Amino acid sequence: MLTALVTIDPSYTIGPVRRRTFGSFIEHIGRCIYGGVYQPDHPRADADGFRTDVIDLAKELGVSVVRYPGGNFVSGYRWEDGIGPRDGRPARLDLAWHSTEPNLFGLDEFVRWAQVAGVEPMMAINLGTRGVQEAVDLLEYCNISGGTKLSDLRRRNGAPEPHNIKLWCLGNEMDGEWQIGHKTAEEYARLATETARAMRMIDPDLLLVACGSSNSKMATFGEWERVILEEAYDLVDMVSAHAYYYEQDGDIGSFLASSVDMDHMIDTVVATADLVKDHKGSPKQIGISFDEWNVWYQTGPTAALPTGDNWPVAPRLNEDRYSITDAVVVGSLLISLLRHTDRVEAACLAQLVNVIAPIVTEPDGRIWRQTTFHPFAQTSGLARGEVLNIQIASPLYQTRQYGDAPIVDATATWDAETGSLVVFAVNRSQSQPVDLAIDVRSLPHLIQAGATSFAEGSQTTPQTNDTVRIADGTAHVIIPPVSWNVVTIRRER
Ligand code: AHR
Repeated sequence: MLTALVTIDPSYTIGPVRRRTFGSFIEHIGRCIYGGVYQPDHPRADADGFRTDVIDLAKELGVSVVRYPGGNFVSGYRWEDGIGPRDGRPARLDLAWHSTEPNLFGLDEFVRWAQVAGVEPMMAINLGTRGVQEAVDLLEYCNISGGTKLSDLRRRNGAPEPHNIKLWCLGNEMDGEWQIGHKTAEEYARLATETARAMRMIDPDLLLVACGSSNSKMATFGEWERVILEEAYDLVDMVSAHAYYYEQDGDIGSFLASSVDMDHMIDTVVATADLVKDHKGSPKQIGISFDEWNVWYQTGPTAALPTGDNWPVAPRLNEDRYSITDAVVVGSLLISLLRHTDRVEAACLAQLVNVIAPIVTEPDGRIWRQTTFHPFAQTSGLARGEVLNIQIASPLYQTRQYGDAPIVDATATWDAETGSLVVFAVNRSQSQPVDLAIDVRSLPHLIQAGATSFAEGSQTTPQTNDTVRIADGTAHVIIPPVSWNVVTIRRER
């Protein structure tokens, strides 16, 4: 049998587990908002029209931060359309998704929804068709307590307290030519810098995210980040990264190794940011907001946008159905994000409901969890304390896209308070189980181990893995081919 060894030492840490790593995203696209988070005629809708079954599952998923309102949608959005009495709100063409936006759900509804769901709002502003003035207007509306035109308008609209939104994205994917109002790096750098400067005149303590690259294959990747940060360094806190992966041409091996690309993307952005830091002689360190990531096939029955005169409200778009292999890849991407907890300060699984989502609703009432729900819920539920800098000795396999990749990838978190070690691991072999050894001799009081595995051919949820044993400071567990695994090692209770 193949073997792999993970060596743990709690004195080697990468950084704290950050709750913001477990963010998600709701965009005005397809049935994410309408028929997803908002469906007033649904039996489980509350007085605001929010589906409480969706809120319940978002809580079970352990989502911390939610980004809104886009995505590509935000680059043509007028936030003022979505506030005030609903009968005065206009319907508009949504160019990004060739749909009609009825504006029945807007800014104030989002903030209320976030409160009910117990998540932190992350607001994206339109730097595609709009600019500095609209951004500061939005900030005044949201975060000033009262006594000005826009803050008083918010109060009249039913929100007497300021929304106090701390996290702001300065546009979305401005490097992409598909983006409404797409810009060159130089153009975007000017606009983002001046927008950030003006926003900080209202509140210097905001956390501002500049747009990074839409994926690591962009021709401008790296240079884009350098140009933006050379100009905006002192005014922003994070630069974004986005990445979507899917199985191409039956190449499951490369697909399972997708986190090699995510690791590379993060490392490249960190190197670029630190290069600029060095140029500037700045003591400040830029973080990464990996605010869109997931498996996304971009093919299939709901992939095509409406065309021509057809501008539907909330059509079924990008409603991918996920397999266990997809869930294993999602798990491996979570491993990559945790492994970079020193620099990844926020991350958003795109998206939360219906559109490339872990949660699916049907208009007639049904709601269900996709396979990808489980690795996310387990990781957000169990990762606590510090992410450890573990050593992994794993056999390699050859991939078409990434060269040699480890068959086993893993990360571990250590919660000194509860004395609980959790190892998250994937087996990327398509045919062979792996005997995974976890050396915990540095934590001699840990003597009780439990494990779950999620693998093709098992059930639709992770199952208890009975093979786990611990003796003489080493835990052993047999992890099945193409599997997501969670091993918890504790003191005896
Ligand atoms: O999440 C779907 C889309 O993917 C977002 O709108 C866009 O930012 C990205 O290209």
